[in-house]
Formats: sequence, structure tokens, C-alpha cells
Amino acid sequence: MSRYEEIKMQLAQEPKVWLVTGVAGFIGSNLLETLLLLDQKVVGLDNFSTGHQYNLDEVEKVVSDSQWNNFIFINGDIRDYGGCARAVEGVDHVLHQAALGSVPRSITDPLMTNSANITGFLNLLHAAKEAGVKSFTYAASSSTYGDHPELPKTEENIGNPLSPYAVTKYVNELYASVYARTYEFNCIGLRYFNVFGKRQDPNGAYAAVIPKWTASIIQGEDVFINGDGETSRDFCFIENVIQMNLLAALADEEGKNEVYNVAVGDRTTLNELCEAIFTALEENGIYSDSKRIYRDFRVGDVRHSQANISKAQSRLGYQPSYRIKEGISIAMPWYKEFLSR
Ligand SMILES: NC(=O)c1ccc[n+]([C@@H]2O[C@H](COP(=O)([O-])OP(=O)(O)OC[C@H]3O[C@@H](n4cnc5c(N)ncnc54)[C@H](O)[C@@H]3O)[C@@H](O)[C@H]2O)c1
Repeated sequence: MSRYEEIKMQLAQEPKVWLVTGVAGFIGSNLLETLLLLDQKVVGLDNFSTGHQYNLDEVEKVVSDSQWNNFIFINGDIRDYGGCARAVEGVDHVLHQAALGSVPRSITDPLMTNSANITGFLNLLHAAKEAGVKSFTYAASSSTYGDHPELPKTEENIGNPLSPYAVTKYVNELYASVYARTYEFNCIGLRYFNVFGKRQDPNGAYAAVIPKWTASIIQGEDVFINGDGETSRDFCFIENVIQMNLLAALADEEGKNEVYNVAVGDRTTLNELCEAIFTALEENGIYSDSKRIYRDFRVGDVRHSQANISKAQSRLGYQPSYRIKEGISIAMPWYKEFLSR
């Protein structure tokens, strides 16, 4: 039995109280769904800055009434320390996802990104430490590798950050490591590499590449590819991310107080990705004459990104169970349905 299966059985037998911040967002709402299906008690915090009520409504439809009754939602902002302190009361494990994502957004508005991602992070970290929660797992980012040329990326070798967003995510790691050392507080950072799956927002100026292209193709619009399309990423399906959050929260001594890559260990170019999305949509009956339009490289983007996931495998028992094509074929029917609402 895998460590993940073991943990799920353990949790089902002995339910815990979880705080998921950013619960109305993409990753947060998927974590909520899994935790409620495992009969956990969940407190969720969100200010709806980029998250949506309809993500929570969708989770409500998937779980049973009694599971939904295990969920308490707090409409609050992590920039407010008092709100963070109330949210962590009685909580066993924190999964901190709330932040303003997107490199371009941080370049347009670094102050706003800083306040959510650094001030908000520190508020929640401190409140969680004060409340004596058992573990504090937080969304870090592969952007922390910055300009370091190593491929695949290993956790100990990072370069200079290339955007305000990357600075904020690195500062999160620094604070977490100081809290671990100074207060013996159990913090685990998860450096997510391009996560995708259902409920990732396809709308708005800062949409991520997979939902953005999917929406364009479904709506018959052209697809814009930054640069020559040979930029590559280690796209990670949401189910792998959920697995890592649970493994991290219940890590043993060897796994605690560390930072881990969360990815698959694959490298997919934007050209390959585009092809895979067109194909998956065709398999769902969507034939489109959207054209691929190449334009300038985007400021702040790294050229190639691929993770070495051996640390997560050896210390936490991580076994990514979905590669990109499987993830895309699972996600496409959701987008087809969502975009026809
Ligand atoms: N999606 C990815 O590929 C990816 C990659 C690396 C890191 N991350 C990190 O993972 C986390 C979740 O990202 P996501 O893709 O689900 O994004 P998302 O925008 O869908 O979710 C973020 C959620 O946080 C909430 N939020 C933002 N600021 C807040 C504040 N001040 N107070 C309370 N709630 C606030 C938003 O309303 C939203 O619901 C973020 O920390 C992000 O930086 C994501």
C-alpha cells in the first residue's frame, strides 16, 4: 500500500480539523473536495479576490450533505491578523493556498502581490504557530528557481528571482525556515510546478496557459503562444498536488521542515501542450479552426522548467499518479461543461 493510501485510511478512521486558505480558488477548492470526501472537518478562508463562490457550490454538489456540514467558511482576508487568529482556532493542520498568483500580475502590481503573499503569509504563519497547530503546509512555487540553469531542478539549487511574485514565494520559504528553527514550528513548503485541472480559472488577464488555451479553442478564438513555443514546463495535474499536501501535512520526522518540488518530472513544450489540448478537445467532440499565433516572449518567464522529484519520493513517499496527457483528458470534459454554463 502506498503512503498516500495509508494516510487516507488513517484520516478516515481519525478525522482531523483542517484550515484551507484560498479555499474558493482552484487548488483550495480541490483540496476541500478531497478532505470532505474523506470525512474531515474543514475550515476554509477566502476573500474571493481571485476565487469564486461557484467553486464552493460545485464542491457542495459532489459531497454528501453530512460531509458538507463538516465545512465552515470564513469570508476573510489573510492580511487581517485577527481573522487569521480566529481561523486557526482548534485546527490540526493548515494547508495555506491563499495568495495572488501570476508573474505578470506581480509585475503590474507588486505592492498588492506583496501584501497578500508576504504580509498575509506571515500573519497566517504566526497565527498558526501561536495556536499550536500540528503542521503548516504552504504553497511555494517553482518560480523560486529563477535564473538557476540546472535541469531538472533540485530543491537546494535556486537562482535569482525573476519577478516580484517569485520574490514573495521565496520570502515565504525564508520565514517558514526561520519559524521552524526559532520556534520548532513544523512548516513544509510545496514548490508547485504549473498545476492544472478542473476549476482552474480560464477567465481574466492572468489566466494560466492550459485553461486560457482551452477556453480559446472551445470558443473558436486564436491561441497565442509566447515566443517560439519551445519554452517547456513540468505540468502537474491537481491530483498529484492534493496527494503532496496530505503527505506533507502528515509527514514524519524525516519529512518535516523541508521544501519539496511538486511536479511529475516531465518536460512538455508549449507546442506539445497546444497539440495535446487540441487532441483532447477533439476526443470530446470539439473541432476548432483556432489558429496558433506566435508572439514575443513574456517578461519574467523562465525558458525551461522541470523538476527532480526524488526528494518528495524518498522522504514523503510521493508517487505522482497522473502525467500530463491523462490530466488533460480528465480536465477537458469539465472545461467543456463549464464554458457552456
Ligand atoms: N496554479 C499553479 O500552477 C501554481 C503554481 C505555483 C504556486 N501556486 C500557488 O498555489 C496557491 C493556489 O493557487 P491557485 O492556482 O489555486 O490560485 P487561485 O487564484 O485559484 O486561488 C487563490 C485563492 O486565494 C484567495 N486569496 C487571494 N488573496 C487572498 C487574501 N488576501 N485573503 C484571503 N484569500 C485570498 C483567492 O481569492 C483565491 O480563491 C497560490 O499560493 C499560488 O501562488 C500555484
